Amino acid sequence: MSTQTHAAEHAPKDIILMEDVNKWYGDFHVLKDINLKVRQGERIVLCGPSGSGKSTTIRCINRLEEHQKGRIVVDDVELTNDLKQIEKIRREVGMVFQHFNLFPHLTVLQNCTLAPMWVRNLPKKEAEEIAMHFLERVRIPEQAGKYPGQLSGGQQQRVAIARSLCMKPRIMLFDEPTSALDPEMVKEVLDTMVSLAESGMTMLCVTHEMGFARTVADRVIFMDKGEIVEIAPPEQFFTNPQSDRTIAFLGQILH
Ligand SMILES: Nc1ncnc2c1ncn2[C@@H]1O[C@H](COP(=O)(O)OP(=O)(O)O)[C@@H](O)[C@H]1O
Ligand SMILES: [Mg+2]
Repeated sequence: MSTQTHAAEHAPKDIILMEDVNKWYGDFHVLKDINLKVRQGERIVLCGPSGSGKSTTIRCINRLEEHQKGRIVVDDVELTNDLKQIEKIRREVGMVFQHFNLFPHLTVLQNCTLAPMWVRNLPKKEAEEIAMHFLERVRIPEQAGKYPGQLSGGQQQRVAIARSLCMKPRIMLFDEPTSALDPEMVKEVLDTMVSLAESGMTMLCVTHEMGFARTVADRVIFMDKGEIVEIAPPEQFFTNPQSDRTIAFLGQILH
C-alpha cells in the first residue's frame, strides 16, 4: 500500500457535503449555489446579516427545509424525498435553536429521555442514565426534576443542548443559541459549546459571538443575500477579510 493511500484513509472524511445547493421560497431565491464541505470534527461558525440565509442553510442539512437544486450529503446519506434517509440523518444531527423549544409540561429529565425512548427505543432506565450523564456534562444535574419554566434562560438552553446530546448525534447544528438570552447567561451556554467542541463534535454554529468564533471555529463563513461570500480560518477572517461585504459586516458587529 502506498503512503498516499494510507494518508487518504486516515484523513477526516467530509461529513457534510453541500454541492451547488439552491433554494427558493416561492419566487424568492434564498440560497444561491451554496458549496460547503465540513470535515468530521470540524467547527464552523456561520455569520452574516439578518435575512442572509443562515438559518435556511443549516435547516436544509436536516431537512427542516427542502432544497430544490443541488446535492446535500450527510454522513454518506443523500437527502432526497426518501423518508427513511431523512429519518436516518435526523438521528445523526442534533439541533439547538434560539428559542429552546423544551416541552413545558415535562420535567428536564423527561425532556431529555423522550426522544431516546420513542425514537431509539431505549428502556426508560437506560434513557435516564444517559440523560443524567449529559445533564452533568452541561452542569445542571440538580435541575433534573424541575420544569423548564422554573429554570433561567441559560439553564433551559443547556437542557436543550443536553437533550440533543442524548440522541448521540454525530453533528450538532446551532442556530443563534445565545441571542435570546440575557447577557449574563451567554457565557454559561458558550462554555458548554466550547466544551462540546473540545470533545471533538462536528459543529455548525450560526452565531454572532465573534469571541467564540475566534477561539473555537476552524473556519468562519460569511453569508450575504443567500450566498457564501467568504470562508476562512478565524485568524484570516478577522484580520484580513477579502470581500468588501465582509469588511462592512465586521465593521458593524465589532464596533
Ligand atoms: N418560510 C419562509 N417563507 C418565505 N420566506 C422565508 C421563509 N423563511 C425565511 N424566509 C426569508 O428567507 C430569507 C433568509 O431567511 P433566514 O435563512 O432565516 O436568514 P437568517 O437566518 O440569515 O436571518 C429572509 O429574507 C427571510 O425573510
Ligand atoms: Mg436565522
